[in-house]
Amino acid sequence: MAVQNSVLTEQGVAVQCGYLQEFEADVLAGLSGRQKTLPCKYLYDAAGSKLFEEICELEDYYLTRTEANIFCECLPEMADLLGESVVLVEPGAGNCEKAEPLLACMDSPQAYYPLDISPEILLAAQQRIQARLPALEVAPVIGDFTAPEAWADLPVTAHKKVIFFPGSTIGNFTPEQAAALLRQFSGFLKAGDGLLLGADLVKDSVVLERAYHDSEHVTELFNKNLLSRINCELNGNFDTSAFAHRAFYHAHRQRVEMHLVSLKDQTVAVAGQDFEFREGETIHTENSHKYTLPGLKALLQETGFSPKHYWTDNKQHYAIYYAEVL
Ligand code: AVI
Repeated sequence: MAVQNSVLTEQGVAVQCGYLQEFEADVLAGLSGRQKTLPCKYLYDAAGSKLFEEICELEDYYLTRTEANIFCECLPEMADLLGESVVLVEPGAGNCEKAEPLLACMDSPQAYYPLDISPEILLAAQQRIQARLPALEVAPVIGDFTAPEAWADLPVTAHKKVIFFPGSTIGNFTPEQAAALLRQFSGFLKAGDGLLLGADLVKDSVVLERAYHDSEHVTELFNKNLLSRINCELNGNFDTSAFAHRAFYHAHRQRVEMHLVSLKDQTVAVAGQDFEFREGETIHTENSHKYTLPGLKALLQETGFSPKHYWTDNKQHYAIYYAEVL
């Protein structure tokens, strides 16, 4: 497994080479726009990933629990549809916790290729899964799944491949980006290969807003951690107490937007550049798009897939779709 080198920031934080320049360029560009933005992928440093794990446990954040219940109930049926001797590929696999029970339920899976930017987490997961399923080839690949180069590093196989993309990660892409990503997926697959996709569904705005503005304020910490990360890694001087967490459902765009609102007129320095904030001005930090069942079906159809089956909970809060390449 190829592991990228690390460098230490002025504050002694180890970050991957090349990553810091990209982070700096993205942050400076994002803060220079008329609507200030920060890419949501930077929410997940070590502290942010830990906070996200806490979010997943919250009563208000129904997504993880609902998806897990669907998997728990429907795993044998899903494994059956996937078929035997399949190679499972998981972009953004993290700790591979969702794939493990699926692999254990599948009929003689050939291999599991988790793709993620974090080598440490992937290595630990590889050892855990290998110990449970010794006959399975587990070959982690380090890389950003949104970059086409990462897909080129995956081993070539003649077996049926299924891309496993749970967690409603698709929702963090705009509809155009989501379509481009699914086209990238179908381009990597051949006819008859599959995609198992988890997506959050459109629902009552009160339920949605509670999930992203939770009563225990964990999402607030998660959102503000991005400013602390910028302070730490890019020599920024954000005063996190001078920003407030805001999350609201934009019904027309079918998405929950997460913002950080400046509580006063202020100037913030990042990597030697000054940025002015007016009181009430926001930094848009994340979109979490919600789908209807017909919308999901259409998205799959327009990106080279033939939808085969979906599973949902009794409130239709969440859906897992299985589709195959035409
Ligand atoms: C990772 N992703 C699917 C989460 C979501 O629901 O959009 C990220 C998140 N943001 C705030 N809470 C959770």
